[in-house]
Amino acid sequence: MPLDPRHARSWLFTPADRPERYPRRDGQGADAVILDLEDAVAPADKRQARENLCRRGSDDPPVWVRINDRTSEHWRDDLAEVALLPAVTGVMLPKAERADDVAATAALLPGGMPVIALVETSLGIENAYGIASEPATFALAFGVADFRRETGLGEAPEAWAYPRTRLVIASRAAGLRGPIDGPAMQLDDVAAVRSEATRGRAGGFTGKLCIHPSQITPVNAAYSPIPEQVDWARRVLEQAARSDGAAVRVDGEMIDRPRLEHARDLLESAVAQSDAESAGT
Ligand code: GLV
Ligand code: MG
Repeated sequence: MPLDPRHARSWLFTPADRPERYPRRDGQGADAVILDLEDAVAPADKRQARENLCRRGSDDPPVWVRINDRTSEHWRDDLAEVALLPAVTGVMLPKAERADDVAATAALLPGGMPVIALVETSLGIENAYGIASEPATFALAFGVADFRRETGLGEAPEAWAYPRTRLVIASRAAGLRGPIDGPAMQLDDVAAVRSEATRGRAGGFTGKLCIHPSQITPVNAAYSPIPEQVDWARRVLEQAARSDGAAVRVDGEMIDRPRLEHARDLLESAVAQSDAESAGT
């Protein structure tokens, strides 16, 4: 069974014009695969990429599809195609700048199909809460490369704290999971990817886009609860089950409702992720 996307850590982009790289079965490592019709596909290949998507069957593993942005000449054609495809979990909308971008996209999709809003411009950051509050929005994601290009922000960490935290707060205020972080650029430096992903998790993100299969393992590792946390969460829930809703004491610390709920969320993700991993082996 594929992992419930609410618990997905690694989101692997695969160019839609490279069907030989499409996932053939579940559990190939990435928690979710996004077949890309946008920046990984040259303008001349867009039509071919859409045709490749049409050849997928209903038994193929479910994927997400990144369409082209709302101002692009391809947006409408992408949506018309994607709306008819089998085995599509949802759509990623790049350059999401206003709530209405998500609403207009959702209106052309089958009812209830979730949309990941890829926020990658200053206007998108300014409107993050409105975008996150659209009923079709499943999660926000941060398009770091486009944002860097548009804003000219350099490497100074303090320059990035505001937009990053803004996405976290907007997501949570709208009742969504934490946002999905942009991809690391390193293709064969696993340690660098892992440390970037670890920082992202500490900053409130709940997963990370990947642009190469080598990034999946370090991203999954960074976004998985560590065994000590899982063990703590189990003990918290055991104690709480005996306490009838009162605060409990675990490892010399008081555990009240917010920490109990944190333990519950942590265990739910850990169980879902480890079930999906064992189903894939
Ligand atoms: C992803 O689309 C990015 O711009 O980083
Ligand atoms: Mg981008």
